[in-house]
This record gives sequence, structure tokens and C-alpha cells, in this order.
Amino acid sequence: MDLTTKKDIDWANLGFGYVQTDKRYVSNFKNGAWDEGALISDANIVMNECAGVLQYAQTVFEGLKAYTTQDGHIVTFRPDLNAERLAQSAKRLEMPVFDEKRFVDAVEQVVRANAAYVPPYGSGATLYLRPYMFGINPVIGVKPAEEYQFRIFCTPVGPYFKGGAKPLTIKISDFDRAAPNGTGNIKAGLNYAMSLHAIVTAHNEGFDENMYLDPKTRTKVEETGGANFLFVTKDGKVVTPKSNSILPSITRRSLLVVAKDYLGLEVEEREIYKEELADMAECGLCGTAAVISPVGKIVDHGNEICLPSGMTEMGPVTKKLYDTLTGIQMGRIEAPEGWIHVIA
Ligand code: PLP
Ligand code: COI
Repeated sequence: MDLTTKKDIDWANLGFGYVQTDKRYVSNFKNGAWDEGALISDANIVMNECAGVLQYAQTVFEGLKAYTTQDGHIVTFRPDLNAERLAQSAKRLEMPVFDEKRFVDAVEQVVRANAAYVPPYGSGATLYLRPYMFGINPVIGVKPAEEYQFRIFCTPVGPYFKGGAKPLTIKISDFDRAAPNGTGNIKAGLNYAMSLHAIVTAHNEGFDENMYLDPKTRTKVEETGGANFLFVTKDGKVVTPKSNSILPSITRRSLLVVAKDYLGLEVEEREIYKEELADMAECGLCGTAAVISPVGKIVDHGNEICLPSGMTEMGPVTKKLYDTLTGIQMGRIEAPEGWIHVIA
């Protein structure tokens, strides 16, 4: 298979959008078992009008990226952790688990089959992979489906936020994203449906994103609609919220290792109170899509908290974290054991 010929795409100007690619992976769960799975060409799904996913939102998903490294390999970043998290998400929504080794194998198949869409090294773009699973048989009483489909498609993407590394302005939302003992800690489509009105409201008011507070006391920082928070304190510590209602971000977990082991910084995962925001030196949003997107200003009902790192560039520690993480992903910096999964 030729893995070096590329599609004629303006890689440098891609946003975070859907571009249909050639192949996707599909496996069906029926009579208590997953079938062997296959790559197919049809991007459309035909399902019954009463499918469980359409009626009761029984769907979970993942997000990871494939990169072209400096020496020309195609790799993914810690796909085993996406497999594990999808399994956790599936269990919470009473769905069957898709075998974690098969998940990684399916990722490899999709990337190889769409190698022409993996952006070249240095282009600023990456190939975003979207594994997901949903209830597909008719369900009308409220109960789990009996049949499921697991899929992975991919799409080449640029930066999640327009403007790339330009600091964002976010607002503290009056809406909650998750319930205290709800599904905030898994990657379920329903969490994102919950956030749509809040994000449209924030955008209409001129903000880039929302900061959600803990749903129980509304005093502590949780996350945004699609990324975890990382803060740098004025004494140079990297701190990130600890909460059982936020998504356990793979990027955030990796950045804590980078901060500690590569940059020699002190790191702390703890509850972060809203009152502490004014004392922070830097703030960033971290996730697969967001990578690390710097925040310059947080607005709490008209009260502006301006991060000392300012509105023109990333703070110095955020920049070091960004450079080291992307350096590891693109093969410029040696990765910790097991982080880089070479596909081609
Ligand atoms: N938080 C939410 C709500 C997300 O949707 C994502 C994206 O996946 C993240 C955090 C970041 O997680 P990860 O770093 O695993 O992509
Ligand atoms: C990801 O970063 O993979 C996500 O799922 C976030 C989403 C908002 C695009």
C-alpha cells in the first residue's frame, strides 16, 4: 500500500471540520457478540426510525489523532487510553464493550486506509479519528438497546479554535454541563447535547468558550465543553481540577507527566476554587482537539479576570508544555515508553 501519496488538500488552512475520507471501520453487535468488522466506503448509516440512539441518545465516542512524524512515520498518541475510556463510557450507558485490542487494531486499519489524508509533517494539520458506538435496534420503552454499531471515521483537521494560539476569552457559565453523580466523567454524546445551548449563548455574547463550575456547589472550576483546564500558579506550579464529574482527559494526564518529568515542574491535581482564578499566572484548555489553547481572560458575570500572560500570546509555561507535548507527538522529542503507537 502506498502511504506517501497525499490528497490535494490545503492543509495549512483547514479548520476543525468534517471532510469525508475514503474508508471507515464498522463492526456490529448482534445476538450478544461483535462481528469481525470491516472497512467500508459508505459514509452514510441507515437505521430504523426507532433506533435506541435516536430515541434515548445511547451513544458514546472518542477522539484521537494521527500525526506524521519528523522522520516520516504515521503514529497515534496513546490509543490504548482511548480504548479504555470508551469501555468505561460504554459500561456507564449499559452498552457492550468493544475489545480494547480490537479498538487499537481498528484505529490502525482506518489510518492506513486513509493515509492519503494524514497531513504531512509540519503542515499544522492532523488526522482526527472519531471512534463511536451507538444503539441501533428499535427501542421504545426506556431500556438499553440489544444491537449496537461501532464505527471509526477520520477527518483531517486544523486548530479547534479559530486563530490557533491566540488567547481565548471565556465566560463562567450559568448552565451546568454535568450532574453531581451523572455522566460528566464519560464521553457520552448526551453531555455534548447538554452543552449546546450554553455554547451558542456564550458565542452570541462574544465569548469563545464556557467555564463550567461544579454542579453541586458552583464554587469550583470543572472544565469546558470540550477540554480540561490547566493552570499555572504565580509560583510556577501546574495545577488542574480534580473532580469526578469531568472527563479524564488523556492530554491533561499526559501534560502532567510532561510538566513533572520533562520540565521539572511541580504538579497538583486538586479542587480549584473560583476565587483562586484571580491568582493564576496562566490558563490553558487541553484536549485532543484543543491541544493546549491559551486563555487570556475569564469573565464572571461582568467581572473580568485578566491572566497576566495577556491577550497576545501563550504564557511561557503553557508554551513549554505545548512545545514539549507536540514535540513528543511529532517525533522531535523522545516519548515516554508506550505513548507513541507507530502505524506506518
Ligand atoms: N473534556 C471534554 C468535555 C472533552 O470533550 C475532551 C475531549 O476529548 C476533553 C476534556 C479532553 O480529553 P482528551 O485529552 O482525552 O482528548
Ligand atoms: C476531542 O478533543 O477529541 C473532543 O472530543 C472534543 C470535541 C469538543 C471536539
